[in-house]
Amino acid sequence: MLNERNWIVTETCFDPKSQNHAETIFTIGNGYLGTRGAHEERYPGEERTTFIHGVFDDVPIVFTELVNAPDWLDLTLNLGGEWFSLSEGEILAYQRQLDLRNGLLSRRVEWRSPRGACWHILFERFASLTNPHLLCQRVTIKAFEDTTLEVRTTLSGDTDNLNYKHWEWIGQGFGQNSAWLHLRTRSTGIELGAATRLSILGGQKLRQTAWDTRNAPTLVAATQLKSGDVVEIEKITAFYTSRETTDPQSAARRALESLPVSAWKGLWESHARAWQREWEACDVVIEGDDRAHLAVRFSLFQLLAAAPRQDERVSIGAKALSGYGYRGHVFWDTEIFMLPFFTYTRPEIARNLLSYRFHTLEGARKKARENGFKGAQFAWESAATGEEVTPTWVPHPTDRTRLIRIWTGDIQIHISADVCYAIWQYWQATGDDDFMIHRGAEIFLDVARFWASRAEWNAETGCYEFTDVIGPDEYHDHVDNNAYTNALARWQLLTALKVMNWLQERKPDKAAALRRLLELDENELARWREVAEKIYWKQDAASGLIEQFEGYFQRRQIDLQALEPRTQSIQSLLGIEGASEANILKQPDVVMLAYLLPELFDEKTLRANYEYYNARTDHTFGSSLGPAIHAIIACRVGKPDEAYQHFLRAALADLEDVRGNAHDGIHAASAGGIWQAIVFGFGGLKFEPEGPKVNPCLPRHWRRLKFRISYRGQPYEFDLLNSPAGGKGG
Ligand code: BGC
Repeated sequence: MLNERNWIVTETCFDPKSQNHAETIFTIGNGYLGTRGAHEERYPGEERTTFIHGVFDDVPIVFTELVNAPDWLDLTLNLGGEWFSLSEGEILAYQRQLDLRNGLLSRRVEWRSPRGACWHILFERFASLTNPHLLCQRVTIKAFEDTTLEVRTTLSGDTDNLNYKHWEWIGQGFGQNSAWLHLRTRSTGIELGAATRLSILGGQKLRQTAWDTRNAPTLVAATQLKSGDVVEIEKITAFYTSRETTDPQSAARRALESLPVSAWKGLWESHARAWQREWEACDVVIEGDDRAHLAVRFSLFQLLAAAPRQDERVSIGAKALSGYGYRGHVFWDTEIFMLPFFTYTRPEIARNLLSYRFHTLEGARKKARENGFKGAQFAWESAATGEEVTPTWVPHPTDRTRLIRIWTGDIQIHISADVCYAIWQYWQATGDDDFMIHRGAEIFLDVARFWASRAEWNAETGCYEFTDVIGPDEYHDHVDNNAYTNALARWQLLTALKVMNWLQERKPDKAAALRRLLELDENELARWREVAEKIYWKQDAASGLIEQFEGYFQRRQIDLQALEPRTQSIQSLLGIEGASEANILKQPDVVMLAYLLPELFDEKTLRANYEYYNARTDHTFGSSLGPAIHAIIACRVGKPDEAYQHFLRAALADLEDVRGNAHDGIHAASAGGIWQAIVFGFGGLKFEPEGPKVNPCLPRHWRRLKFRISYRGQPYEFDLLNSPAGGKGG
């Protein structure tokens, strides 16, 4: 992948072997849907996939998944009697580009057909940001002889999720140059209306027909060309679902009927302006490091492309809308890794994402109830309803005869505090009292109630404990008193009490209503404080070291350096049990805590824990969530070079596929972490009572770092220059 001016991701050759990685990279989206970068014409092994936010359907093992929508990309070209395909004839020139400024995906091909005819073809597509129901395609074709051109486009409802089919056919039909299709998901009954319109502008029209094939209505248009003629094919597709309207099929048809005959230009102009406004709020500029600069913008682009702007009942999954990994499920990735970017640049989007947790509270209450607890216990993996959807068993990656038990859905409980952490951060940054009054407070109180009911009193130690949990480091499960979980639980309980006091003063009616709704009394509030104050906590007074969980220091010591160079994770090398018995971490845990609750770490403690755990973390093949956080803490302990190494691991996870799994979709948490590494790591941003302040720690070779944030309704821009000697900027 090359870059031009750090805005454009470029592919210079067609390589079928890496097509799935390229599909991820060339994903476009508009916050309503995301479409992987499959080509218009089909190739074996491709994953032509569109995910629409909130369109989930049931599936074995993983419970529910985002459904692959009908394919809106399909467009086959018959050029003078020969089918256009990159696998045939000769590719004389090829360039595919994603313009991050505006989400235009284009592909320029000069092709010599098997028979020897030359063609210049430019494919372009975008998913409108102004009207997210509209998807636009244009193909510009130049002929070099007198010839014919036929275009076929099928609106296929026969799509699947890696061979699993979700759609039932309801109906289809045709209008003026257009076709429509009406479908319904098998289990959840979500209806989808799709309509598409095809026109050829230029040439001498030969015919325009439609093929009424069931579940695959097809439009066909043909034209006569003279040598040197340039024609434009314009195709606009509309998608609506029953999540937005009662009659999605008519809505999709109407959306097309209201467009002018040639719609591309008008739609493009408003779309490009909308993207420009997005970047005005959040662009990051790095001078002196083009590779990092492009990678940062790519990450922000993918987050913006997946960010729900019109819908507060959905959230962003671990792979955003760009691939099948984790099936569209939502994790702590959103609140802890992605959300800060939105909170500090696009707070309206952050509000939508947090509202998703409010709307799914019932699912969290159900989970708590079923586990024998009170209050709200958020699902480790969440989808439409907030119920737990983590698969219980998955096939072993190498031994097909074995299944692996996945425990995260049962015992990775820190997520309930993480959700509250993000609400608190949003509230501090925006001052959005309305959100706290009407949504945040209820979540806070019900989560506190969960923690208090989950805590176990240990008479011997005189502490409340959380036993049998998984902390952020998933190489170790069934552990007791994970420091991260305990500290976040304590923070959550104490902060819930603050929220309650604030609400009582600010909106006594609402406070009383919540007390009634949740049946909260003074005794219970008093218990929250009692639990919080006595939660198990162990820290070595001399060294400042915090033990990740009880007994961690006794785990088998492994020298990571001795295992280098590696091509696989420590878990793959040692096996699940082997990794669990060892002291190696999949991702920051105590270091994660140091990032989220810095007040618990003085300088010495921070350095001691960073040094200790950094040396024992599987940075290259552990979790992609880790490196950005390590980069931030490395900055805080004054190690910009080490920070930069960590940062690059995160920044290149998608564009350069450093983990070898980008074909499953982008690493959305890492993308959010990259922004945090820029702003809170290299930029050293902190919020003082007088306002935001920076304390930069730029990598030596960066000449300049510029970023913008919004804080309490005010825009701030920071322009940090590296002094020639390196180190601090100003
Ligand atoms: C990580 C989790 C993360 C999940 C989804 C796992 O591999 O360990 O922290 O939430 O992936 O990205």
